[in-house]
Amino acid sequence: MIKKEFTDVEDILEKRLNEQVQSGKLEGEQWFRNPLGWLLVCFNNPLNFKNPNGELVVLQNNQNEISKYIKGLNQIHYGVGVGETELEIVRFELEQSKVVSLEGIDINKTFIELFGENLKDKEFEFGKNSIQAKLIQDLFQNYQPSFNGNTLHVCLGGTLGNFDDSSSELWSIFQKNSKSGDCLLVGVKMDKYVDIDFKKYQTNYYYPAFVLSHIKNVDASLIKWRKDENNYFRMSYDGIEVFRTRRFNKDNLIKEAGTHGFKFADSWTCEYEHSLVVLFKRN
Ligand SMILES: C[S@@+](CC[C@H](N)C(=O)[O-])C[C@H]1O[C@@H](n2cnc3c(N)ncnc32)[C@H](O)[C@@H]1O
Repeated sequence: MIKKEFTDVEDILEKRLNEQVQSGKLEGEQWFRNPLGWLLVCFNNPLNFKNPNGELVVLQNNQNEISKYIKGLNQIHYGVGVGETELEIVRFELEQSKVVSLEGIDINKTFIELFGENLKDKEFEFGKNSIQAKLIQDLFQNYQPSFNGNTLHVCLGGTLGNFDDSSSELWSIFQKNSKSGDCLLVGVKMDKYVDIDFKKYQTNYYYPAFVLSHIKNVDASLIKWRKDENNYFRMSYDGIEVFRTRRFNKDNLIKEAGTHGFKFADSWTCEYEHSLVVLFKRN
């Protein structure tokens, strides 16, 4: 059974937008208010290197190993987007356990609807009672899991790198929502091709439309990009930071996770060492 819960988040997002503009820094939830922007950039460079979807390749190439770790766990998906990689994690569990219980959380209603549609189609493939899903439109910051048993927390597509200050806010959310024995599967982009990636962001035609959907007439001369020493790429508009993404060094990511109660268990990369999927266990 697939249940959906929609929250009217527009007022909350508008209030947060005003606060964020005052503080000089926009957060990721704002970029996804208009889903078309993300649809236009997500199958494209600069998110991927050579492969059209690096994380999908990593997951598909390592299905057997990943499946062993996730067997029997409830799943929570943080930020489903178009959901094609998340759906693979669902499929892995359906193929080995025949059933899966999951929750999916995203700020964007269209992405929640789309994931519901995709899961409904999985039910045609795996059987009517194979999926127990609750899909929730809300902020990660407001979400409270309803599972009791051990859980796999899934956060793919570089979402971790959209959070500033070494992603401390998102790590705290994972920590709050998890308990000992839980797993966390994170998908990020590595730091091997930082300069090429940065050039791709700077020159990407769609990025301004994606992250500046709250501005009616965008003046391209007000857009500035900078790369900082921690490999955050930051875009500002008229002096306000409107977007950030991060390229990760694997060892540093493992250290970072350790400071938030997550221990390294395993990892996999695409053949170009650009997309990285890491599995952590909660202490
Ligand atoms: C970078 S995209 C990744 C999407 C997908 N996981 C993938 O791999 O393609 C981030 C996703 O998280 C959602 N998101 C970002 N910040 C959020 C927040 N604070 N609360 C809820 N959803 C959020 C966005 O709407 C978007 O679907």
